Amino acid sequence: MAQVNVLDHPLIQHKLTYIRKQDTGTKEFRELVDEVATLMAFEITRHLPLEEITVQTPVADAKSYQLSGKKLGVVPILRAGLGMVDGILNLIPTAKVGHVGLYRDPETLRPVEYYSKMPSDIHERELIVVDPMLATGGSAAAALTLLKEKGAQNIKLMCLLAAPEGVKEVQEYHPDIDIYLGALDEKLDDKGYIIPGLGDAGDRLFGTK
Ligand code: PRP
Ligand code: URA
Repeated sequence: MAQVNVLDHPLIQHKLTYIRKQDTGTKEFRELVDEVATLMAFEITRHLPLEEITVQTPVADAKSYQLSGKKLGVVPILRAGLGMVDGILNLIPTAKVGHVGLYRDPETLRPVEYYSKMPSDIHERELIVVDPMLATGGSAAAALTLLKEKGAQNIKLMCLLAAPEGVKEVQEYHPDIDIYLGALDEKLDDKGYIIPGLGDAGDRLFGTK
């Protein structure tokens, strides 16, 4: 069964508090989401394999390390996932970016796919799927299915906030995918919003409400 990891680094938790606050405006919200994405990416890339190499310093040879192993990819679920991309690319500038366009039908709460474009070599990459919100889990589960159908073999899911219902949905349909969260919240309301959550992530990021 996939692991659920809440990243409890103090800086992540502090910034999440300000992301949640209703009087945090669009500019600050966007900056904070960007910063938290960087911090979360820092935490979840701890396992990346290294190889030893020798480099010449101005003084002598030094045995040192560089990343080895698979190349990385970031896959935001549009729209709100876009807010987490640059924060990750700041750390891993060579990562390629795929996009999955999904919106949640407000009546059925089921995801509707409207776009996807992936790097051609996703089967060779370690992918981080990003979306601020894991609510019913329908959008994330659909994005993961789409990526697997396109050949992805190594995927992590990274979200700022989740409801237990969303975690359960992803675990049921994708038991092989590890989930990384800033916080695991209490529940969903009857409109499928995370309680206490942060409201509508896309609207807060892009100022559309
Ligand atoms: C939000 C959010 C997730 C989805 C989560 O996107 O960014 O993608 O809802 O809900 P779920 O877990 O119940 O599927 P939304 O559909 O509002 O689209 P947007 O990002 O374009 O605003
Ligand atoms: N999508 C959001 O943006 N917020 C929620 O709480 C649930 C889904």
